[in-house]
Amino acid sequence: MKTLRLGLAGFGTVGSGLAKILHENREIIVSRTGREIAITTVLVRDAARKRAVPIGAEARFTTNPDDLLGEDIDVVVELMGGVDAARSLITRALESGKHVVTANKHLLALHGPELFALAASKGLGLFYEASVAGGIPIVQTLRESLGANRIERLTGILNGTANYILSEMTTNHLDFGTALKQAQDLGYAEADPMLDIEGFDTAHKLVVLIRLAYGRDFPLGKLPVRGITQVSGQDIQFAREFGYRIKLLAQAREVDGKIEASVQPTLVKHTYLLARVGGNYNAVRVEGNAVGPIMLHGQGAGGAPTGSAVMADIMALCRGLNAPCASFDNTGFGNTPLPPADILPKGEGVSMHYFRFSVTDKPGVLASIAHTMAEHDISIAQAVQKGEHQSSDVPIVFLTHKARQSAVDEIIRIIDGLSVTLRPTVHFPIL
Ligand code: NAP
Ligand code: HSE
Repeated sequence: MKTLRLGLAGFGTVGSGLAKILHENREIIVSRTGREIAITTVLVRDAARKRAVPIGAEARFTTNPDDLLGEDIDVVVELMGGVDAARSLITRALESGKHVVTANKHLLALHGPELFALAASKGLGLFYEASVAGGIPIVQTLRESLGANRIERLTGILNGTANYILSEMTTNHLDFGTALKQAQDLGYAEADPMLDIEGFDTAHKLVVLIRLAYGRDFPLGKLPVRGITQVSGQDIQFAREFGYRIKLLAQAREVDGKIEASVQPTLVKHTYLLARVGGNYNAVRVEGNAVGPIMLHGQGAGGAPTGSAVMADIMALCRGLNAPCASFDNTGFGNTPLPPADILPKGEGVSMHYFRFSVTDKPGVLASIAHTMAEHDISIAQAVQKGEHQSSDVPIVFLTHKARQSAVDEIIRIIDGLSVTLRPTVHFPIL
């Protein structure tokens, strides 16, 4: 059978990881797909730069995107990242009748519906396993393996960089900046690491997963997002004392037909599997109404794990193309446009909470905070005050029972306005 010819856009961490897998595992890939697969052209910014990973004698580097759109390419594999250039390339590739594989969650979160509609109108595959949770096969799992389930709840650690930083701060007491630098050196971080640490990369991935799980389009701008820059070593330590770890969690669930979703640092009981997910690892817990809870765990970032997911998409396309009558369902909902999600208003969410108040150490302060909380129906489960004798600034930490988000927002507004409050209150939900 004819060789499947790949036009690769991007030869960085993931692109070179993919080339390495294709080279090292060629025999097994051919035996599973019945076809040779070869990279013929590689689009980069700097075609003259020497590369550590070889691409094969028959392949060439280019800086011209048009070179991926000719007759000699069957599948365009977009691994360059960013939004505008990637959107233009993928659109042109689909318009030229080429199947596309991408790892670009940022692009899919913003422009997925338009690209899926274009792919469907052309009967082409637009596959994106590597866009969420690196090497973990969560896209295939939601689109196919759990296709018979109503998904009740989805909880994930979806960013390897953020998880690496939190793990290093917790276990090795590294400071934030050093841990971030290490994650960048290891190839986990986005070109703009703010996407990782401010929670946006996790948000992009959650939007992609919500489509697959609920068949609804959740606009990125409506998703509440908080990153890990607000998580201090002090909060990690307090959480530990209460038996919790702090993780950057993506959560979505259906409540009376409405979808409640968020990305935020969250306290997770140390005995839960999610609390034990360390380093660049990700995990996704899915509760289906038939299958019950399942959990997938694996490396969420890095060239080899992500390259493995990209290669799986290329092989799935290859198998589809080998079939007598190829058809590609890219969203798991038959390629029809997805309706917008009915979104649960943020204030209506209910959760347990962690609060750290920074206040002046004088009589009555703790009582007045507790009183404000009681007035708003927030019940305290555990408390600790670490005051030194005559210290002017003490942290007071409360863990609460379940409380409505609107009440939480209101008491923070009140307490942050008190003259005894020295710094803005820190608060995180508890899983
Ligand atoms: P990277 O290491 O920064 O590599 C990007 C590659 O794309 C480089 O080869 C670069 O060329 C090329 N490139 C960038 N912009 C270009 C443009 N406008 N025109 C032509 N070439 C361009 O990025 P990466 O970490 O491999 O990530 C690639 C994609 O995979 C992103 O969408 C990312 O979000 C996603 N992803 C990454 C990981 C991970 O662990 N790193 C995991 C999952 C998904 P030069 O080499 O000449 O600079
Ligand atoms: N920057 C991303 C992360 C890459 O750290 O998870 C994988 O999507």
